[in-house]
Amino acid sequence: MAISVLVAGDIAFREAIAAALGREYTLVETESVTSAADALLASKPAVAFVDLRGESPAGSAICRRIKGAASTRLLPVVAFAEPGEDRTVAALDDGADHVLPFPPPRAELHARIRSALRNRLATERLEDASQVIFALANAVEAKDAYTEGHTERVGALAVEAGRLAGLDEEICEALRQGGVLHDIGKIGIPNEIINKAGRLTDKERIVMNKHPIIGERICEPLKSLRHLLPIIRWHHERLDGSGYPDGLKGQQFPVPAQILQLADIYDAITTDRPYHRARTRANAVEFLHGEANKGWRDHELVKLIGWAADTLNLGRTRDEDIPPPPAPIGQWRTE
Ligand SMILES: [Fe+2]
Ligand SMILES: [Fe+2]
Repeated sequence: MAISVLVAGDIAFREAIAAALGREYTLVETESVTSAADALLASKPAVAFVDLRGESPAGSAICRRIKGAASTRLLPVVAFAEPGEDRTVAALDDGADHVLPFPPPRAELHARIRSALRNRLATERLEDASQVIFALANAVEAKDAYTEGHTERVGALAVEAGRLAGLDEEICEALRQGGVLHDIGKIGIPNEIINKAGRLTDKERIVMNKHPIIGERICEPLKSLRHLLPIIRWHHERLDGSGYPDGLKGQQFPVPAQILQLADIYDAITTDRPYHRARTRANAVEFLHGEANKGWRDHELVKLIGWAADTLNLGRTRDEDIPPPPAPIGQWRTE
């Protein structure tokens, strides 16, 4: 497949780039930010050459667009600017990865494309690796027939509550992924413990409580998952220091991990499990406030979880819609 290159600028600029590149690449030419966005979607270029000379507002809009969207953030942008430190700084601030003088130095253009292709290959491999971890998380969920859809709901609820808490988009995205991955460490826990209908013995509890650390260890080698490690490790901590594995207290317990934990518990207690009967939405929020009264959770965040559950319509609102538990009720388990 021919490698495509996005060229954004006026006709004279595009011709100059075309002449420098020769026939080796497919050029996707564009002048405005709207057509650039379409071209990005359609042709998945390896690199973008953008004209920023003359303080081009169209050029800087294109750079910002590329760097602002998750799907194109990694696309290398080579910008052309007039000589001078302030012009170079402005181009870099617009999101350019490299700034070159015009007319384009031919050999360097080719070298930039080669380097972009090498990097693309490396990041694609990295993405493959994190896909494996996500697939593993789904396999863990499948181990436990009663928690179907749990991880996805936890992610969605945590994102919604995170937005209400004013967390930025990047952290919200971490909450979505954390929702999927938080219990991945259960892969190291025997099925008899995970699916046990009754109360866990002390010994079983010790084994079960290892799942956050096992999960962290699974995700640790991947750089692309590193920002999720605190969420995975600390999703069973308590504000008064009585949680596990580290016994974090108060401010040591990061807000995103607290939000994910509340979403996790909310989903656990509003769904039917072998060891308990589901609660209604109002009852679940009350339960969480009860835990906040014990010093374990934060009342304000509990409120946000309740509102988020309303928005997403998660959990049943009427007691009569909830079936009796399949086995004698054991204990409220929220892992
Ligand atoms: Fe969970
Ligand atoms: Fe857990």
